[in-house]
Amino acid sequence: MKKRVAILISGRGSNMMALVEAARNANYPAEIVSVISSRPEAPGLAWASSQGLPCRALDHKAYASREAFDGAIDDALAEAGVDLVALAGFMRIQSPPFVRKWLGRQLNIHPSLLPLFRGLHAQRQALQAGVRISGCSVHFVTEEMDTGPIVAQAAVAVHAGDTEDALSERILVAEHRLYAHALSLVAAGRAYLENGRVVFDAVVNSSDVLYSPKA
Ligand code: GRF
Repeated sequence: MKKRVAILISGRGSNMMALVEAARNANYPAEIVSVISSRPEAPGLAWASSQGLPCRALDHKAYASREAFDGAIDDALAEAGVDLVALAGFMRIQSPPFVRKWLGRQLNIHPSLLPLFRGLHAQRQALQAGVRISGCSVHFVTEEMDTGPIVAQAAVAVHAGDTEDALSERILVAEHRLYAHALSLVAAGRAYLENGRVVFDAVVNSSDVLYSPKA
């Protein structure tokens, strides 16, 4: 049985598109049953709608509190019979009860090799730090932002003279591939959260969880 996945977005939605494309493969262990945007005008939402995907715009500004907004998201997830949540450029901090409810069933992608460069402008932080390698990480969502247990990472070279845009673009290519892979590991039950750590099944080896795409 394929896992039923909701993707939460706020903007462009290129990671969402990558997950939707991956899930079109008959052998992929997850299906995308819902796309929810915290911004009605998000370009990603228009794309999802054009693909005939079940879409919801839940404008966070319409809710009195973070908890009320998260409650509306939770209701939408229940309505769609969702098993797993994939955050893809979702720009809202979630309330602790929501995070706890979905613990082990909610993933996020971040454009750095965590635990380095959490928060906003991760690629800019990497350039400022002068690292020669950065990348992206898919992790389970926990209460503290960008700190959850890591499911998979991809390393991406930082080029001499890179601009923030150039590095972001190179990392984004890796993100799309990594997220589809990490979601498949979790959806297939080959990676799961147990006592705050990610447990991998015996056949998952390091090349499954660490990508080094050609730069
Ligand atoms: C990506 O870089 C993702 O890692 C970060 O926000 C960006 C979203 O891009 N969390 P997109 O909306 O998926 O194109």
